[in-house]
Amino acid sequence: MSEAKRLAGEKAIEYVEDGMIVGVGTGSTVAFFIDALGRIKHRIAGAVSSSEQSTARLKQHGIEVLDLNNTGPLSLYVDGADECDPHKRLIKGGGAALTREKIIAEASDKFVCIVDPSKLVPVLGKFPLPVEVIPMARSLVAREIVKLTGGQPVWRDGVVTDNGNVVLDVHNLSIVDPVAMERDLNQIPGVVSVGLFARRPADVVIVGGEPPKVL
Ligand code: 5RP
Repeated sequence: MSEAKRLAGEKAIEYVEDGMIVGVGTGSTVAFFIDALGRIKHRIAGAVSSSEQSTARLKQHGIEVLDLNNTGPLSLYVDGADECDPHKRLIKGGGAALTREKIIAEASDKFVCIVDPSKLVPVLGKFPLPVEVIPMARSLVAREIVKLTGGQPVWRDGVVTDNGNVVLDVHNLSIVDPVAMERDLNQIPGVVSVGLFARRPADVVIVGGEPPKVL
């Protein structure tokens, strides 16, 4: 599977144009993209990072990491996913970086999602849906999620996000209307963000393989 991730990550380099500031996601697939970006770092103006983990890897390669507040809109965002449906709607947040990932996706003209074939699903929800929550609202949000979705939220114990929050992973969902579920979960007080990328799905999905497939 890591070979498929590498092939997807390296294929995404084709979307990087000279002088770009590149939005960079988080995870093991993105790590291959960052390594490939390191090899062409002289061609780009820098990166905006979605996590401390990716920032560290970008800096190891000598790539300048910029503040989104100073860059304005981005042309390109490259990130992985935990699940991807046929409409390029995603579940993300397995690496707990969903909030910053969602911010950068929103700020970007083109979102290129890089996955291995195991991430493609007909309907989202087999992968537990991550929800980032303000710590004091954890129990309240969990109760509301049960009422709203019928799913089972499980506290990702011991995990604190880069924003100082906690994560609930919602099990046993079959998400037939991801746009509605994203909207409804976002309304619960205490929810910071939901790992559904349906309102703003990916624009391009690269599925790693020999050769990679572009959807
Ligand atoms: C991190 C994410 C990742 O993109 C997602 O978990 C996929 O990770 P990987 O590439 O390691 O399979 O959303 O928050």
